[in-house]
Order: sequence, then structure tokens, then C-alpha cells
Amino acid sequence: MLATKEKTTLIPPYGDKLVNLLVPSEVLEERTAYAGQLPSIRLSDRSVCDFELLATGAFSPLDQFMGQADYQSVLDTMRLANGYVFPIPIPLPIDDEVEVTVGQDVALRDPQNELLAIMRVEEVYNWDLEETAVKAFGTTDLRHPIVAEMHRWGKRNIAGPIEALRLPTHYDFKDIRMTPAETRARLETFGHQNVVAFQTRNPMHRVHEELTKRAIEEKDGVLLLHPVVGLTKPGDVDYFTRVRTYKALANNYYDQDRILLSLLPLAMRMGGPREALWHAIIRRNYGVNHLIVGRDHAGPGNDSEGKPFYGPYDAQDLVESFSEEIGVTVVPFRMLVYLPEESRYEEITNITDGVKTANISGTQVREEYLHKGQLLPQWFTRPHVAEILSETYPPRYRQGVCIWLTGLHNAGKSTTANVLTTLLQEYGRNVTVLDGDVVRTHFSEGLGYSKEDRDDHVRRIGYVAAEIVRHGGITVCAAVSPYRATRNDVRSMMESDHYIEVFVDTPLEVCEGRDTKGMYAQARSGKIKGFTGIDDPYEAPRHPEIRVDTIAHTAEENAHQILAYLLDKGFIRPHQ
Ligand code: ADX
Ligand code: MG
Repeated sequence: MLATKEKTTLIPPYGDKLVNLLVPSEVLEERTAYAGQLPSIRLSDRSVCDFELLATGAFSPLDQFMGQADYQSVLDTMRLANGYVFPIPIPLPIDDEVEVTVGQDVALRDPQNELLAIMRVEEVYNWDLEETAVKAFGTTDLRHPIVAEMHRWGKRNIAGPIEALRLPTHYDFKDIRMTPAETRARLETFGHQNVVAFQTRNPMHRVHEELTKRAIEEKDGVLLLHPVVGLTKPGDVDYFTRVRTYKALANNYYDQDRILLSLLPLAMRMGGPREALWHAIIRRNYGVNHLIVGRDHAGPGNDSEGKPFYGPYDAQDLVESFSEEIGVTVVPFRMLVYLPEESRYEEITNITDGVKTANISGTQVREEYLHKGQLLPQWFTRPHVAEILSETYPPRYRQGVCIWLTGLHNAGKSTTANVLTTLLQEYGRNVTVLDGDVVRTHFSEGLGYSKEDRDDHVRRIGYVAAEIVRHGGITVCAAVSPYRATRNDVRSMMESDHYIEVFVDTPLEVCEGRDTKGMYAQARSGKIKGFTGIDDPYEAPRHPEIRVDTIAHTAEENAHQILAYLLDKGFIRPHQ
């Protein structure tokens, strides 16, 4: 017989009732039609995340974007005007040119213009950037990502009751996206009263597995593995990759009766202690009564003087001081480190002096392992996870790069490009040559030699080159590309280290002397107008990555010069 576990009773939501802003299905059609006639407010990605958490009750008891009284109270006291603890302001800033009046209904839409909700505008108020930055985040330093971002927000917030018509649509990882109500229903089936949440915005390594396993052991609870997939710190590992690591870990290394993986569409503020307290309240609404808070929880990195914005354990202290009131206790951890001689992890405070410890920093993960195609060691990362990371971050010699040869007609670009292509193939790389004269017949047919047409031609080559680079290929481009600004446009289409400009520096007299197709002669006689070097300028690169000399050196020698550069940068690896 199948033993069915009894449903457990979880901690109720904060404020006892889960907010639900979705309109009843009977009126959905009518309200949607009405919304279609209203003026629209376009939400940022951040506000869409906030909206989703508001609408599903993850911010309970908060049930709308904050009005002025709540906003001020949150800044000054970490509480809503009604007294509930709430440490992070949730405003809805609107663009300065948008006109709204109090009493009006507006339609809230996502950046793709999809309808989300109707808001009855009850307040339009100005907010103070400096006050918000100082009170909520403790700094005005632009190195703090949320402070930097706030400078781009409108100066007014709007607030009022919301009728949610639908939640933002997600097409990815649908099986592990759950509202607070759905999460609670799932957690109730595990048969554990205690639910321990783990917040994360990073790939999970062994150390994080250790934290979570210790915590559920200690609390005899079930783990809610609750990674953030809304907005995190700029530069973080993309969430598609991260979620693949979480799935691999949850499926292969945990007792299936003790873990629930669910994605949280939260827009983080990187607000350290206040953010940790907010995380605890949010998780309570999902049925959680214990939150893991380790070292530097929701930390934004260092300020412009190189100092951390918050102390490493400030977040633990703040959440602990509120834990009774919010019903969520902290499962605290001091920094966990690895003891290679004992093959185990331990908190740094429990280690006697002189005992050997090991750690691999984020930078080392990238530069010493991933870039070099080296798998992360087993004591640091589970093999399933290491493999996923190595797919997302292939070594340099499997990343894309664009070698852009610029110079006058007949400078020797195509010849050099062809030799280089062969040499790159010798090193095992696939190469696409985009020769300006050749591709003209494919995607620039009809374009002439006016400034506009030349620019279009160069940008089209740049666009294709950037796609090749993004997909991990090498492209060798040979185009006169006479204008500096246009070349810089092309450069900015790719990641900065992946565009290598080669100035094929051959003097005009030499190019003209090699006039195989008779182009220069035609330009001189006026038959061709706007010819680069004759009656149109060639703006030589000021800081090319490489300069080649076609008088002192052969095309083969020049190709070897470029090859040496690529070898040095790691885009090809030495013969094994
Ligand atoms: S974040 O939201 O806090 O920025 P992150 O993934 O970096 O997410 O950390 C998740 C949680 O694990 C946080 O509570 C953090 O304090 C804790 N943590 C991460 N690494 C360690 C470590 N080596 N020792 C102790 N706690 C850690
Ligand atoms: Mg962290």
C-alpha cells in the first residue's frame, strides 16, 4: 500500500493572508476590454518583477506599489505605514514625460507592450534619489548597482490599487516556476513542518550544497532551493546556466524527499542587510520559517574606494534582530572553507590556526579553469555542475573572434586574410572570410561608394561578423572601412576583447602602383567618384591592435604576426 504523508501545516503568510491581485475569471474578459482603452504605462523589467511578486502575494501584506506614506515609512523605519516590517522600497517610477493625473485608471504593460494590469492612480509623488540611496542602501556611491540604476529612473512614482489581469508570461523552466500558493501546496506534501530556504544568485558549488544540507539536518526540515531568476547583480552568470546547475544538483545529490527547487522572479537590489530581511519576509510568504544567511548575503561588492558596502555578517545580525516578529529564524553560517587534508568543509571560526584551507575565487574559476578549458576540481564543484559551466564558458580557444583588416584598396588585405585563414585552420579553427568585394554580391548588391552606402556595407559586414563571434567562430574581415566612426560602431557590436583591428598600412603610392584592376586610374581620371585615398578620405586607425607593413614583409609573414597575437591571447592553442 502506498503510504501517503499527512499534509503539514506551514507557517501562515506574513500578515496572515496571502495577497492575490488577480481579478476573478468571471470579470477577466470585461476588465481586459476596458484596459485596452486606457492610457498605458510601460513598466521596466524591474517593475515587471515587482509586479509579479506583488500580484502573487510574495510581498504580503504589501498589495500595491508603495504610496508616499509607505515609501517614507519604509525608508525611515523599515516598516509599512501600518506597522508591518518591510525594509525595501517598492516604487513604480514613471518616465518624466508621461502625463498622469490622480483619479485616472491606467493600463500597466510590460516592455513588449503586453497588458498586465489596471491601476487606479491615487497618488503621483516625487521621490528623492539621495534620501532613498542613503536611507535604504546606506550609500550614494555609484558603484552600488542599484544607486547607479536609480539615476535612470523617472522622478515621480505612482501608486494605487491594482487589478492584475495576468502574470508576466514565462516560457522557460515552466515546471519549476511556482507562485507562493503553489509552492505552499507542494511543500505541504513533504511532511516537514520546518522549511529552510536557500537564496542564491550564483552557480551552486560544493560549499553551497554543504550549507543547505547542514541547515536541513539541523532543523529537520525540507529545503526550498529558491534561486533568483529576476534581476541580480550585473555581470552575474546568466540564469539559464545557473538553473541548469541547480537542476543537476537537486536531481543528483539530494534526498528527493527533502528538497523543492523553485525559481523566484525577484528583482534584487543588492541591498545587503535590508535585502536579507526582505528575503526572509518574501520566503515566509512561500511557506518558509528558516532562512540560510551566510557571509555577505546580497552583497553588492566593493565601493569606489575598494571597501565593502556592508560588513560580512551585518545581514545575519539584522535578520536575527527581527526574526521573532517576522516568524523566520536565521540559519547562520560563518564563512565555510575547505580542509584538503581532511576532505571536508568547515566554518572558518572552527578552524585551529595553521590548518591548511583551500578555496577558489570567482576570478580564479574563470581565469584559471574555465578560460583554459580545465574542469573544476571535484572537491569544489560536482562534475555535473562543472560540465554545465564549461559549456557556457568555453575556453578562449573555442570562443569567437573577429579579425578586421582595414586599409586602402590594394593594400594587401585579401591576400593576408587568405593566408591567415589557412593558418587558423591548421590550428583547428573554423573561419569565415568576409571580404568586402566578395560579400558585396551577397548582401550589399546595389550599394555604391557614397559615404552612406559604404557605411551600410561596413555595418552589414559587422553585423554578420558579430553573429559569427557570438556563436564561437572566427571571422576574418577584409574591407577598406575608411571611416573611424564606422569601424568603432563595428567594434562595439562585439564583446570588447573579441574585435581585433589590423591596420594594413600600405602607402597610397604603393597601392596605386599595384593597380591590378585599374581602379585608381579610373578614380584619377574622374570616372569613379568618391574613391578612398583619391577624392575621399581614409581615416587611419589610431590604436589598432595590430599594424602590418606590407612593404618590409610578405603577406605570409604578416599572417604569422597576426597568428602570434591570437596565440598570445589564447584564441588558438599551441599544437599539443
Ligand atoms: S546572494 O543573494 O547572497 O548574493 P549568493 O549565491 O552569493 O547569493 O549566496 C547565497 C547564500 O549563501 C547567502 O546567504 C550567502 O551568505 C551564503 N554563502 C555563499 N558562500 C558562502 C560561504 N563560503 N560561506 C558562508 N556562506 C556563504
Ligand atoms: Mg554572495
